[in-house]
Amino acid sequence: MISLKVNGAAKEYTGDPEMPLLWYLRDVLELTGSKFGCGIGLCGACTVHINGEAARSCLMPMQNLAGKEVITIEGLSAHGDHPVQIAWEQVKVPQCGYCQAGQIMQAAALLKSKPHPTDHDIDEAMQGNICRCGTYQRIRQAIKSAAGGAA
Ligand code: FES
Ligand code: FES
Repeated sequence: MISLKVNGAAKEYTGDPEMPLLWYLRDVLELTGSKFGCGIGLCGACTVHINGEAARSCLMPMQNLAGKEVITIEGLSAHGDHPVQIAWEQVKVPQCGYCQAGQIMQAAALLKSKPHPTDHDIDEAMQGNICRCGTYQRIRQAIKSAAGGAA
């Protein structure tokens, strides 16, 4: 049995230890904000926080999560009011929206480790999160806005 926390709630998992976390989140817990994009760690649509750090849930087997704390987009803030979420709304970042939960989780992890990131920091942190709609300019603008810089 694997004990972990998801969005603050204790969970006990007894299924296939090799099942990816993304499957558990979406199919078992019905937390469908984290998206399946590629399944091989190349798009970032499935990004969650594990012990406070951004991680690709499509690549993370359940057996690696014993004692870990997982936060999904549903648990990032109580009312969708994390500074990154507020900035995303103000800047109107999303287009189709498919990649955006992953983008927001990646950006939130960046600002936690670097509250005032440079353009280089942003590019480096966000480069693995693909947006097929090309919202990259607004993503950068929103991250700066959330960090308290010029929007
Ligand atoms: S679905 Fe996980 S990185 Fe693409
Ligand atoms: S908003 Fe459509 S893929 Fe990013």
